[in-house]
Amino acid sequence: MPRACKLVVAVVLAVTVTTTAGSAIAAATAAKPSISGFAPLSVKPLAPLTITGKNFTSVKAVTIGGKAVTFKVVSAMKVTATVPSSATSGKVVVTTAAGSATSSGTLTVVAPASAATLVGNAAAGRSLFIANCAECHALAAAGAHGTLGPNLNGTSLAEPVLISAIVNGGSTVMSASAAADYATTMVAFGHVLSTAQIDDIAAFVYGATR
Ligand code: HEC
Repeated sequence: MPRACKLVVAVVLAVTVTTTAGSAIAAATAAKPSISGFAPLSVKPLAPLTITGKNFTSVKAVTIGGKAVTFKVVSAMKVTATVPSSATSGKVVVTTAAGSATSSGTLTVVAPASAATLVGNAAAGRSLFIANCAECHALAAAGAHGTLGPNLNGTSLAEPVLISAIVNGGSTVMSASAAADYATTMVAFGHVLSTAQIDDIAAFVYGATR
């Protein structure tokens, strides 16, 4: 499995947020944080999560299911976090210098589909990716650094979506506004590669982006 897969472990998480103690005085005077909710209620690993509440100042930590996650304080009422690939469903906790707030709801972390269900051969797909896709896409597992198209690392697209992108062109699986960010338009490989080759690339990209 690609390196990213080592991180893929679980299915459900709890989210916790901790603030950075600015100073002893700030800690003594700051009001305790509270969480009013988070969205979405169900996420895939590596997807963004938005936590809303109050007193998100000097946030020291955010945890999901007891695991610390990368977070960004957007405002005193909003914190965004990235659900790690090892995440499991659980409560969300935000910790600040003034204390910790735990979500009343449980965040459901959706397990990535099992690679065992894929039809293609990922090893063959890696070579095909390097030959056909690497010039435009970045993907660590293929040593690819292309910049004309989206960086595929961590994209976690479902297998049918990947196949559709390869057969019909990447813009067919993206919003028009997201696709418009790219000066180049991806070609449709449906007439260029065989069905077996497309399955192989999809199997490789599936595993390499999780
Ligand atoms: C000539 C450059 C180019 C090549 C070659 C190319 N792509 Fe793309 N790809 C793009 C661009 C540009 C987009 C964004 C959509 C658009 O404008 O067509 C894209 C979009 C995608 C998306 C959707 C990404 C997302 O964030 O939803 C996937 C998946 C994808 N490409 C996979 C591949 C695979 C697999 C191959 C090889 C079979 C490949 N691409 C070959 C340029 C390319």
